[in-house]
Amino acid sequence: MPMNKISKIGILTGGGDCPGLNAVIRTVVRCGIHQYGWEAVGFKDGYRGLVLNDYLPLDFDSVAGLLDKGGTILGTSNRDNPFAFPVATPEGEELRDMSAQVHANLQEDGIDALVIIGGDGTMTAAELFSQQGIPVIGVPKTIDNDLIGTDYTFGFQTAVETATEAIDKIHSTAESHHRLMVVEVMGRYAGWIALHAGMSSGADIILIPELAYDLDAIAATIRRRAAAGKHFSIIVVSEGIRHPQGHLVSQRTVKNSPDPIRLGGIGPVIAAELETRSGIEARSVVLGHLQRGGSPNPFDRILATRFGAAAVEALAAGQKGQMVALQGTHIDTIPLSMVASKQKLVPADHELLRIGREMGICFGS
Ligand code: F6P
Repeated sequence: MPMNKISKIGILTGGGDCPGLNAVIRTVVRCGIHQYGWEAVGFKDGYRGLVLNDYLPLDFDSVAGLLDKGGTILGTSNRDNPFAFPVATPEGEELRDMSAQVHANLQEDGIDALVIIGGDGTMTAAELFSQQGIPVIGVPKTIDNDLIGTDYTFGFQTAVETATEAIDKIHSTAESHHRLMVVEVMGRYAGWIALHAGMSSGADIILIPELAYDLDAIAATIRRRAAAGKHFSIIVVSEGIRHPQGHLVSQRTVKNSPDPIRLGGIGPVIAAELETRSGIEARSVVLGHLQRGGSPNPFDRILATRFGAAAVEALAAGQKGQMVALQGTHIDTIPLSMVASKQKLVPADHELLRIGREMGICFGS
């Protein structure tokens, strides 16, 4: 395979943050410098920094002490699309394709390749830059675990751990007060966090966007538990399940975001419905951004480190337009075109759904 002639790389983090971003940045910078003698810079606040040519130099010192730090030292944004970038005009604001500006910036800065760390929106733009000839390697991140082609994204396991700990705590108060406790978790349109956190915390009912639910059937499950002496139930719901009337519940829309809908608020709706139908008092908790924060757990630190090293190796080997991906126990690369604008949902035959059903856990019907 031909080698890319690289002397300087740019790194950016796009989309919602998650634990492990700094661990990737650290590995890419260290491997790039130590193994290949590259220079590195980090663009600030995702694609915004790339468009505005706003960056900071990165070296061994600037990435020291980063492994355990949540968030991203580069900043991020989940609203700036470089192909439809908000530009102020005398009339207000218009969206412009700023990709030519990005090419000019990279040329001016002497940057030969980009490592772009992000979720599906970020990878979609990365794929477009790749089509325009910029050597790009993508690194998949998101607490939602909804990127296609990789078994896991980093950030997911830490979010599941955070949600599990929270649900564990909710368990005891639910039991003491003989209540229903509805815990709403993130995940957008995919139920990965709800499924994993629900199963690992022993939830009684788990609702995910991929499966339709029936409130009367759930209430019957709750009453059966009560009849068997369990006067409390833990219900984990994904933010992406539909309202009983069929619509998604959103808190707000975010202008210029690749996906402008910000979900949230279905938990209290489900709690109220189940209280009425079961006759058992209910409370709800929305875990929200808590799931995105904090230090990455060891699994995510290692995955982020492996992804970062694989991104550098891929660039050095002449690959471009690829995303590093975990497939089984191996790190591989897959074309960005396979990832862009797609979502990995929980399949109906997922092992955890089967095991959960065999254990009597209710998934909504
Ligand atoms: O994609 C990660 C995520 O945390 C989703 O789970 C959630 O729906 C969304 O981002 C929240 O976005 P924001 O930080 O813009 O509120």
